[in-house]
Amino acid sequence: MTHPRINPSILSADFANLEAELQRIGSADAVHVDVMDNHFVPNLTLGLPIVQRLQQVSPLPLDVHLMIEDADRWAPQYAEAGAASVTFHAEAAAAPVKLAREIRAAGARAAMALRPATPVEPYLDLLGELDMLLIMTVEPGFGGQSFLDLTLPKIRRAAAAIRGAGLPLVIQVDGGITEETILRAADAGASVFVAGSSVYGADDAAAAITALRHAALPRA
Ligand code: DX5
Ligand code: ZN
Repeated sequence: MTHPRINPSILSADFANLEAELQRIGSADAVHVDVMDNHFVPNLTLGLPIVQRLQQVSPLPLDVHLMIEDADRWAPQYAEAGAASVTFHAEAAAAPVKLAREIRAAGARAAMALRPATPVEPYLDLLGELDMLLIMTVEPGFGGQSFLDLTLPKIRRAAAAIRGAGLPLVIQVDGGITEETILRAADAGASVFVAGSSVYGADDAAAAITALRHAALPRA
């Protein structure tokens, strides 16, 4: 598989010290920023002004995950703020093709997320519009939940469709990723891994990132 990418989620970081918390994950591939609006999910985190400020101070690219309603209205603004990738939820987008094109036109990679119970099949024809597909491996809203193995067949089906169509997009997984679960997601076809509590909950975040990367590689 391709080099496993680890994107720690600042949802599990100290929200009063975000700049310092970014320094703890310097060896990561990107920082995952969970935007929640208390409507699409029953939790409220941060929005555009904080993401704009994070963009100014972050040594890592921003991987913004929008768990918000009315993604069509808001997502392009996160791309304009300089995020490297902007992920909207399929369930929250009225016009996902138009939205993905707007995100790309604003200079970010476009990604679409699926909740655990949302099938990938209705979206197969629009995968060519995306740079990344996020398959949620927990119900979105909170960190620290357990990985849902029932999402593995969907990851496999998505990976097979992507391979079959010869598309360049990558599969990201988010939720419950630990040293114990990451290989199952990697084997199914994911190559970008969001990890909140397993990185920020560790005393040594850099060591946790290294351990996750290692654990994602198939055993010889
Ligand atoms: C959950 C968020 C995740 C969360 C993952 O809705 O989208 O990014 O931070 O946290 P862990 O890795 O603890 O499951
Ligand atoms: Zn997330």
